Amino acid sequence: MITYDEKEQIFHLSNKKISYLIQIEAGGIPAHLYFGKAIRHYHNHFRYPRTDRSFSPNPPLSTDRQFSFDTVMQEFPGNPGDYRTLSYELLHESGSKVSDFRYYGYKIEEGKPLLSGLPATYVKEPADAQTLTITLKDQLYDLYLDLSYTIFADQSVVARSNQLRNESNELVYISKLASLTLDFSSQALDLIHLHGTWSKERMLERERITAGIKLLDSKRGSSSHHQNPFAALAAPETTEKSGEVYGFSLVYSGNHQITVERDPYEQTRLIMGMNPHHFSWKLNRGEVFQSPEAIMVYSDQGLNGMSKSFHHLFQNHLVRGRYQYEERPILANNWEATFFDFNEEKVLAIAEEARNLGAELFVLDDGWYGHRDNDDSSLGDWVEYKKKLPEGLLGLSNKIHDMGMQFGLWVEPEMISEDSELFRQHPDWALHIPGRGKTIGRGQFVLDFSRKDVRDNIYQQLKQIFNKVPLEYVKWDMNRNMTEVYSVLLSAEQQGEVAHRYILGLYEFLEQLTTEFPDILFESCSGGGGRFDPGMLYYMPQVWASDNTDAVSRMQIQYSTSLVYPISTIGAHVAAVPNHQTGRITSLETRGNVAMSGVFGYELDLTHLSAEEKEVMKEQVHFYKEHRQLIQFGDYYRLKSPFDGNHASWMFVDSEKSHALVFYSRMMAEASSAFHVLKLTGLDSTKEYEVEGQVIGGDELMNIGMYIDTEMWGDYASKMIALKAVE
Ligand code: GLA
Repeated sequence: MITYDEKEQIFHLSNKKISYLIQIEAGGIPAHLYFGKAIRHYHNHFRYPRTDRSFSPNPPLSTDRQFSFDTVMQEFPGNPGDYRTLSYELLHESGSKVSDFRYYGYKIEEGKPLLSGLPATYVKEPADAQTLTITLKDQLYDLYLDLSYTIFADQSVVARSNQLRNESNELVYISKLASLTLDFSSQALDLIHLHGTWSKERMLERERITAGIKLLDSKRGSSSHHQNPFAALAAPETTEKSGEVYGFSLVYSGNHQITVERDPYEQTRLIMGMNPHHFSWKLNRGEVFQSPEAIMVYSDQGLNGMSKSFHHLFQNHLVRGRYQYEERPILANNWEATFFDFNEEKVLAIAEEARNLGAELFVLDDGWYGHRDNDDSSLGDWVEYKKKLPEGLLGLSNKIHDMGMQFGLWVEPEMISEDSELFRQHPDWALHIPGRGKTIGRGQFVLDFSRKDVRDNIYQQLKQIFNKVPLEYVKWDMNRNMTEVYSVLLSAEQQGEVAHRYILGLYEFLEQLTTEFPDILFESCSGGGGRFDPGMLYYMPQVWASDNTDAVSRMQIQYSTSLVYPISTIGAHVAAVPNHQTGRITSLETRGNVAMSGVFGYELDLTHLSAEEKEVMKEQVHFYKEHRQLIQFGDYYRLKSPFDGNHASWMFVDSEKSHALVFYSRMMAEASSAFHVLKLTGLDSTKEYEVEGQVIGGDELMNIGMYIDTEMWGDYASKMIALKAVE
């Protein structure tokens, strides 16, 4: 998969789908040649053209006026003379911020090494991937940069990460070390990204790239509701079904930054990595700093093609553990049913109704510990609140299990309330700057997870519960962003490390916990989708996608989440109407159809249902169980965007293309409306399918399409259509 042409100094990474080409250019810098559809053999015709560009200096010690680091496409730029956004920035002991890294050597190995302390994609067999490491060395100090590239045998993916090794006698401070840089030659490109806020996560944005710099980031200490660590660059003509697109995703859950720069020669540079904001890392002699991993996907089959690659990669090479391929249980959660106001009797009544509907798992949400009656207290005190649960969690869990249901529990381990025993004992355990006030968020502070003693205390508390109480599921929440990012145990010159050390501490904690409790299904949550990123997916195979449970909002949130993340990762529940976040009223059918397009559950007071509602829910549960494998693990295609008009549609197809499920919704009803046609995708054009009592060819469904909303009535109407291939 990886070849090196020694004479021309060209690296070619390729499989049947893609090629990636790097050439060591004049002055020993790795220049970028190509990333895209597979090339059989590269004939070295695409060297960077030589032209004297005024005000673009030539590399140190070079007299070639026609070559400049300022204009050439590069793999990991940072040397003097490139005035574009750079991949790294180091502060040397001398006070200089200038580094000059040049080619030093390379290594090609089978498989893919693990990244120390960080989540990353993996392969089970060495033959499933090859990894190239290109080493650069600074011209003045014994500092080495290892640029790592993994190509997978069967994926349109290259995974990248970088290491800085300090083998000099001096200290060096890292102010920036990106995970990937990709330069594009002059061409029109659109930038696609997912921004938002709480309850409105991952809103899809598409815009033309013009001259200058566009910066997308999170400085919140988490990957955030506000900007997902994802971006794509697409040709302007690219649609869901066709055209070229490059997708980028960062396997990291903390502060991140994506910069997209169009230079004066119309070249585009994308850089993705940890956010340099307030970041600095002291690297002593003999130490190594590892950047998080970034994933690059290439598709010439539009956005659906890109998503398919991300889904397959994350499903098969990122998510781990028992639940990787296991169907996820249908759950009932008591949060929107009771909020903090519950007792054992109330939750048992809800669990019993859930069981009667056919749900499989009952999840007890926030409010079961300390003396938690609202969000002002008790975080950090992970002991049962006996007023609400007189027989404790064990008693409740036993009763839920006796009903024939699984039991799950909510926790928020990274937080501390001022009103808690933990805070009274250890006021310095919250992130804070001595002498300054602490910023409060949702009535709570953030625990300093960069500290091992803090993590150990919380670990022991959780472990005690998980050992005592039979549990099949845990929802891991994180309900505010970081401020006063300072750790009292670190020296002044290391304070820029705290945000990253926190995330490393969190990863270490999760690695230990998920290893010690391999049978617990973990669902990640951060006020809904505030930490929906590949880093968390390495430890927890599903995520509560948003606190917004309104079916119409959810169509947008889930649609755009699917750009990157597999359906098996997207938690989606039916909630009450009027909806708690929007006040909107939608039918139970539509709420069900939207929630069934993810990892399904209910989150409303099931003890107040009419007989008719119960019947509908029973049917939903039955329907979901019947199609669960297809929905959670099938191929997924977006058909109509809820961001573009009055319709939303997507579909699921199994690997044999013999079963499919189509979701369609029309938002606002219209008198005398047009007849809308829906063309399906991903089917087998040689097969016939049974659709709503009729036999129709796959070719007909994909090319002629079908009239879709002739019988729809009222606002926010929706339907699910099942397709089955006939022999
Ligand atoms: C967050 C979660 C919710 C719920 C509450 C409990 O907002 O996203 O689902 O668990 O916390 O406080």
